[in-house]
Amino acid sequence: MEIIRTVSWMKQAARQAREENHVIGMVPTMGALHEGHLSLLRRAKSECSKVFVSIFVNPTQFGRNEDLSKYPRTFETDVAKLESSGVDILFAPDAKEIYPQGFTTFVTVEGLSDRLEGRSRPGHFRGVATVVHKLFEIAQPQFAFFGRKDAQQARILQRMLQDLNSEVELVLCPIVREPDGLALSSRNAYLNLEERRTAAVLHCSLEAARREIAAGARDALTLQNTVRKVLAEEKLARVDYVEVVDAGSFEPVARIGSLPAYVLLAAFIGKTRLIDNLLIESSPDSGDLRCSL
Ligand code: PAJ
Repeated sequence: MEIIRTVSWMKQAARQAREENHVIGMVPTMGALHEGHLSLLRRAKSECSKVFVSIFVNPTQFGRNEDLSKYPRTFETDVAKLESSGVDILFAPDAKEIYPQGFTTFVTVEGLSDRLEGRSRPGHFRGVATVVHKLFEIAQPQFAFFGRKDAQQARILQRMLQDLNSEVELVLCPIVREPDGLALSSRNAYLNLEERRTAAVLHCSLEAARREIAAGARDALTLQNTVRKVLAEEKLARVDYVEVVDAGSFEPVARIGSLPAYVLLAAFIGKTRLIDNLLIESSPDSGDLRCSL
């Protein structure tokens, strides 16, 4: 695996891969790699002839009081994981390389970026959209692989690609979970033992919503109350939001009617903020509702 640190070198390598007619798949990450990230790589490997991964802890997507300085950085182990997953190129620039002095251009996806995660984390999605747009300009992938755990992020990026007439196709991949249901996240490393045990409640609360949907519930308020009730049973858990939204607009819906839809939640476990979601779709064969965690 080649490790590239500069934009000019990465552009050169991307150009060469395109000239050689490779199908390039890209997986943007902030490192501290876990099975969730690795599932994206495997999917990329299965669909593309060259796989580029980026590791860049992007400063512009962190708020002033967020965890930029203490965000987990495990570069050596990340490199070992990528080597054994058969990644072709790791692009790992430093912040000055991506945001050189004088940098003033940002990408804002309006509307979608202001709700839910965007409301709790002002400026977050502007940073995400900006860096992802830059990464795609630099690495020129045909396909880019993102996790459904960050459903709103993926939707915003899809919107950006469409609005900017990009050729990059976004591939949305399922959520990878721990055996107790907790969605893998680099931020799980912040949890102490008791918080880690408690954190499974996010998944449990969405499971409860899933059961209720299976029993016929369609009313958003009913589902929100169910999720909140399960979360309230854990003293260490504090809800930020629980919403039932349309999967296209991310606008709240009163009832699960047009599909797909999401039940989205964000909650603090101690000081650590975690997100999770339940996807509600119509099953392609029967047309019945199908829920995925
Ligand atoms: P990061 O949190 O490192 O996540 C990188 C990718 O891994 C994202 O697409 C995310 O949705 C996916 N991912 C994380 N946990 C997952 C899980 N449990 N199952 C499946 N996929 C999972 O998201 C970012 O970085 C950044 O915002 C980035 C897009 C790289 C821009 O800086």
